[in-house]
Amino acid sequence: MLVNIKEMTQRALKEKYAVPHFNINNLEWTRYVLESCEEMRSPVILGVSEGAAKYMGGFKTIVNLVKGLIEDLKITIPVCLHIDHGNSFETCKKAIDAGFTSVMIDASNYSLEKNINITKQVVEYAKKSNVTVESEIGHIGDADDNTSKEIAYANVDDVLKLVNETNVDLVAPALGSVHGLYKGEPKLNFEKMKEISNSVKIPLVLHGGTGLYDEQIKTSILCGVAKININTDLQIAWSNEVKKYINENPKVYDPRKIIGSGKIAIQEKIKEKIILFGSNNKY
Ligand code: 13P
Repeated sequence: MLVNIKEMTQRALKEKYAVPHFNINNLEWTRYVLESCEEMRSPVILGVSEGAAKYMGGFKTIVNLVKGLIEDLKITIPVCLHIDHGNSFETCKKAIDAGFTSVMIDASNYSLEKNINITKQVVEYAKKSNVTVESEIGHIGDADDNTSKEIAYANVDDVLKLVNETNVDLVAPALGSVHGLYKGEPKLNFEKMKEISNSVKIPLVLHGGTGLYDEQIKTSILCGVAKININTDLQIAWSNEVKKYINENPKVYDPRKIIGSGKIAIQEKIKEKIILFGSNNKY
């Protein structure tokens, strides 16, 4: 069932668990995520970055791929198809027109006023198609060019202003997490997280889920996080297995065997995250 993000994350916020957002990269990845989440009875958000969308052929290809898999594999859990870090109104509009059920507008590089204006424009357009919107504030960096100390932390008043003026469904405030592998210890500001959650009253999103300690994930959920993004963890799990398989089986050339050798590693990682987030057996 392809749905927007609202019900699944509002329920998670109320019941104190987090819905997993897994980034997808290809047909196999999407299939593994859907099958594992179905087995665990967990709702799921399929995150698609602009780079992944280009790699896979485009937004329409992805919408049709996901719809086809849901039907062929008889997937019954709620599935949300979501743009990850959409960088403009035009990108979000294109994804909405193609059939995505949720978008993230990331205008966090701009001033607060400009971020609010762009986000507002996306929300107005998205609401016409019952599409939900996530926005970012402060700036969540990438481990490659940032350390957790150098990111721009979100400020409580700014987050409240953005949420009130734009009517977004979820917000991702930068509070210390980064994308990719952390350089040094990850440090999250839980006090601010709780304060933001209490004032905005909508689900918070935690980006950069790879490399955080289990206790940090659990505390985040208690502080109002209801969606956690995971990308790098699955990529590492998959690529380690595929490299090993190729080394051990140098004569194999069937792509299904090579690509598929990473299947179990991805599935195990997904199940581990679902249990950690507490989203199993919810549907
Ligand atoms: P990681 O790659 O650190 O898991 O972060 C994923 C993410 O936040 C995608 O938006």
